[in-house]
Amino acid sequence: MKPVNIRLEPLGKTLSAPRGEPLQDLLFEHGVEFPCGGRGTCKGCRVRVLDGAAPVTALEERAFTPDELRSGWRLACMLAPAEDLVLEVAQWETAILTDGLPVEASGREGLGVAVDLGTTTLVAQLVDLSNGHVLGVRTALNPQAVHGGDVMSRVEAATSGGERDALTDLIRRGIGALAADLCGARPEVRDVVLVGNTVMHHLFCGYDVAPLAQAPFETTRGELAVFHPWELGWSLPESATVRFLPCLGGFVGSDILAGILATRLDQAAGLTGLIDLGTNGEIVFGDGHRMLCASTAAGPAFEGGRISMGMRASSGAISAVRLEGNRPVCHVIGDGAPRGICGSGLVDAAAAGLDLAIIASSGRLPDSWELAPPVVLTQADIRQLQLAKAAIAAGIRILLKRLGAELGDVQRVYLAGAFGNYVNAAGARRIGLFEFPLETVSPAGNTALSGARRALFDGPESAYGALRSRIEHVPLASDSDFEQTFVDSMVFPGG
Ligand code: FES
Repeated sequence: MKPVNIRLEPLGKTLSAPRGEPLQDLLFEHGVEFPCGGRGTCKGCRVRVLDGAAPVTALEERAFTPDELRSGWRLACMLAPAEDLVLEVAQWETAILTDGLPVEASGREGLGVAVDLGTTTLVAQLVDLSNGHVLGVRTALNPQAVHGGDVMSRVEAATSGGERDALTDLIRRGIGALAADLCGARPEVRDVVLVGNTVMHHLFCGYDVAPLAQAPFETTRGELAVFHPWELGWSLPESATVRFLPCLGGFVGSDILAGILATRLDQAAGLTGLIDLGTNGEIVFGDGHRMLCASTAAGPAFEGGRISMGMRASSGAISAVRLEGNRPVCHVIGDGAPRGICGSGLVDAAAAGLDLAIIASSGRLPDSWELAPPVVLTQADIRQLQLAKAAIAAGIRILLKRLGAELGDVQRVYLAGAFGNYVNAAGARRIGLFEFPLETVSPAGNTALSGARRALFDGPESAYGALRSRIEHVPLASDSDFEQTFVDSMVFPGG
């Protein structure tokens, strides 16, 4: 019998499975956990069927509400698909980075909602506008994942696939549900601030994303967008304002504007950087007077994507590697047996491989390297890592050159995003992801979310015009030095 295809989102992996057979073993190999061993009693293996039919079992009827079942929630331990499925793996939610630090702000009455609209995940916080305290947080996966895991597949679905309206509808409904869950029927909600990358901004707002699909990858629709809740079909008070903060350039979204607000980079006395290490790396360098920003396509290696045994940072993932003499010692999340390697582990492993001269500075890895059975690193894995780190390193170099600055001029560098928060800075420096002295580098958490929260206190009228006029977008693809700088950055630094 022909096997079925099972696509896992947001992992972006497609697995082939025997038709009608239980999926448990296969899903376990790819990071899905089965806390009660598949007895259908814990709900810990819940996944959402985004596409395809999965009949509901009696145990699932007990585990989920009718609404949840209608939304596609199922127990992975009960799945034995007779047709192709697209599954959203809910356990990714545990990896979503939030940030509960209070904002120091002179307040106003009421409540606000700050939303980080990520390509993979959504995070919303309910904020007391009188004192900046976070009263609640909700996270979810981006429901657009059914149309692909990365921004370019969403752009393709919206343009050639004709799914733009469907994508807009999906994300508006997804965030509306998150906000309703967070706020209930509270009448004091005054203001909602959303931030996200340019594609998420355009799809949420219902704008054409075609300009983002072709060179020069610029948009004329990067302005502050303001909505009423009823326009979006949201059950928030009618008087509330919903603002999506403005983008900064082709692929530099308001998540980076929020990062600038969160880190106070716009008020920095000395040269300061903010690097968001995602699939699309976004970089800002500047000070209180002038800032340059750019985006660079790093690919999914930092998130464990396109790595032969890559996986998310969940139990079973090698997340760190250190050397004891000549022996690599791996830290496995959950302290169990290793099942794969996540981005931070990959960076550390490459750094260790360089120190042991198993990996050459050219990136050559003659034989696959067994880190901890069954996890091996291959030549192709190292090449993926080189592409990712070269994209970031080249972006940094070009921005500093444009600013007429040297490495030694940089006083502080903030690493944003989940990977930036967890990566070992020494390992990242060893592989040449960046060259700054370690004492200047600080993890900064989810700066998009903390910046959105800060923007709640800027008031609904703020369009950030003065701030945006101090930020210049540098399209790296049109920089005559970028290609050579990228090639130069592919090599690993010598030991
Ligand atoms: S593993 Fe516990 S319900 Fe599926």
